[in-house]
Amino acid sequence: MSVPIVRSTAELRAVTARWRRSGAKVALVPTMGALHEGHLSLVRAALQKADRVVVTLFVNPKQFNSATDLDAYPRTENQDAAKLAPLGVHLLYLPDAEEVYPPGFATSISVSGISEGLCGSFRPGHFDGVATVVAKLFLQTGADLACFGEKDFQQLQLVRRMVRDLDIPITILACPTIREADGLALSSRNLRLSPAQRAIAPKLAALLLGVADRLARGAPVLPTLAEARAAILAAGYREVEYLELRREADLQPLTSLDQPARLLVAAWLGDIRLIDNIGMSPIGATN
Ligand code: PAF
Repeated sequence: MSVPIVRSTAELRAVTARWRRSGAKVALVPTMGALHEGHLSLVRAALQKADRVVVTLFVNPKQFNSATDLDAYPRTENQDAAKLAPLGVHLLYLPDAEEVYPPGFATSISVSGISEGLCGSFRPGHFDGVATVVAKLFLQTGADLACFGEKDFQQLQLVRRMVRDLDIPITILACPTIREADGLALSSRNLRLSPAQRAIAPKLAALLLGVADRLARGAPVLPTLAEARAAILAAGYREVEYLELRREADLQPLTSLDQPARLLVAAWLGDIRLIDNIGMSPIGATN
């Protein structure tokens, strides 16, 4: 059984409006394709919570800051559709760039604060591109619910902030990061790792866990992070963009683990940029 595909906003709106009129609860899973188990876990969560699930596959040019990165992004439409069919997804939306950004398109959504720092410092304009396309998809589908992975934690918090600020009537469901058996967080970029890089890649997650353990035992935050940056380089990564402890709710920097926090990292392995993060409870909290 194949999943129905629409490629225009008008068709997408027509189908989702019909569903909503019939009282169905609609969930949206926005993706850029190159689907892996992480995406499929979002789809499964959506199917559990809603009567109808739309998956979008759109490599959004506005969130890439380099043409090379945009060109190198894997496009695997047929394989993606084949992975989604057995799950029981109800609709695939595959617009082209002209459909999403017709000539004259002039609007951009910018979520200040949360989009600054971390990935925002290294990918100028990236989060404006994400916020703009996600807001469009929310409006086009009128979905009741949308699923986002914790792997892109800054993106998740940015979308939550935007939904609150703009009173968009949608529930955001956060889904945990899915990992390979050796701890490497699943990412479409993993497909580009050479065998040698693939052997080094999981050291990032292992080091992150090690830092979390040390901080939870009361190690001082800044020196511990500095040592861990050096350890990531020693493990074979070329560059560490950031390794930071941030407050979970609004991603403000923390210098002590005294509130719910997130430890976030971005590092380059050769020419591949990998990110990861884990949640941390404040010291002394019991859970
Ligand atoms: O996480 C992604 O794949 C993208 O940023 C998203 C949310 C689909 C927007 O293009």
